[in-house]
Amino acid sequence: MSKKPVQKGNQVETTGHSWDGIEEYNNPLPKWWVWIFYACIVWGIGYSIAYPAWPGIKGATAGVLGFSTRANVQADIDAAAAKLAPINAKLEAAELTEIANDAELSAYAVSAGSAVFKTWCAQCHGSGAAGAKGYPNLLDNDWLWGGDIESIHTTITVGIRQQADADNDYLRQSEMTAFGDLLEAEQIDAVVNYVMSLSGDAQDASKVAEGAVVFEENCASCHMEDGTGDRSQGAPNLTDAIWLYGGDYATISETVVGGRKGAMPAWNERLSEAQIRAVATYVHGLGGGE
Ligand code: HEC
Ligand code: HEC
Repeated sequence: MSKKPVQKGNQVETTGHSWDGIEEYNNPLPKWWVWIFYACIVWGIGYSIAYPAWPGIKGATAGVLGFSTRANVQADIDAAAAKLAPINAKLEAAELTEIANDAELSAYAVSAGSAVFKTWCAQCHGSGAAGAKGYPNLLDNDWLWGGDIESIHTTITVGIRQQADADNDYLRQSEMTAFGDLLEAEQIDAVVNYVMSLSGDAQDASKVAEGAVVFEENCASCHMEDGTGDRSQGAPNLTDAIWLYGGDYATISETVVGGRKGAMPAWNERLSEAQIRAVATYVHGLGGGE
């Protein structure tokens, strides 16, 4: 083994320890380093007294300065809410039908409504509001329950097929009856063919006439004689080739046999009136609003 050469003029003292001839040099840390190290310790102690630091069972020590990121966020939220309070109050006080005529108010409602929609509605209706099977497209002018601003506002407030509060529980409740036990299989087959014929071609045209009779007796009370639907019952238009569940033979049969009761949560307890009005204005403005 070669010995590390000791530089001339740079003789380093040893600590005096020696193991089998291996000696330990005594190389103290540079002073500047040691002082920075001590300064860090002092700063660390100071910091942990001033700011939240030491974890405990229920939380960390609070620190004498009372700093809290949570409180800062709350303060920011409160400041934003205070800033928006006047326009929200105006939105709540306005006639729904007048919102569109007030440029400033409608611009605010649409942008606030778009934020509400992305947070609360997009999971079901899609971020672009185009919907999916069972979740209606909110961009078109085909409405189950009505597309004027007041109907949209009511739908959002009370939800659909929800146990809403006593004042509202009669609204948005009617369901598509399950006819599996009410009609014979041939009647169902016939009426499905009739429904298909309303917007296109029946699977079996010879059954359409019989289906029309079944429809008149069992379906017209909700979907109307001509099949164009009844919004007061949420019964869709069956003549427009726009389908919530699907317009093929198998899906319509499934609908008629098993019934349907799509449900949407009521938003009156989750959102403020201003938020509901904002998102109603946003939805109304998507293209299908009446
Ligand atoms: C959990 C899923 C879900 C969420 C979240 C949801 N919806 Fe719905 N929404 C539905 C379903 C399902 C229907 C159709 C119910 C039916 O079959 O009548 C519907 C129907 C509607 C309708 C009626 C459409 C028509 O044709 O009459 C409107 C308007 C609407 N939703 C707006 C909203 C808004 C605004 C939000 C957010 C605040 C929202 N929805 C959140 C599921 C949802
Ligand atoms: C009590 C009222 C009522 C009666 C009676 C009724 N429907 Fe419906 N129907 C509805 C409602 C409400 C819906 C929407 C269900 C939903 O949104 O989940 C619906 C939905 C449908 C759909 C789904 C349309 C789509 O877009 O996917 C079809 C098809 C349909 N009904 C056919 C019939 C036929 C055929 C009959 C008679 C045998 C009938 N309905 C009787 C209320 C009714």
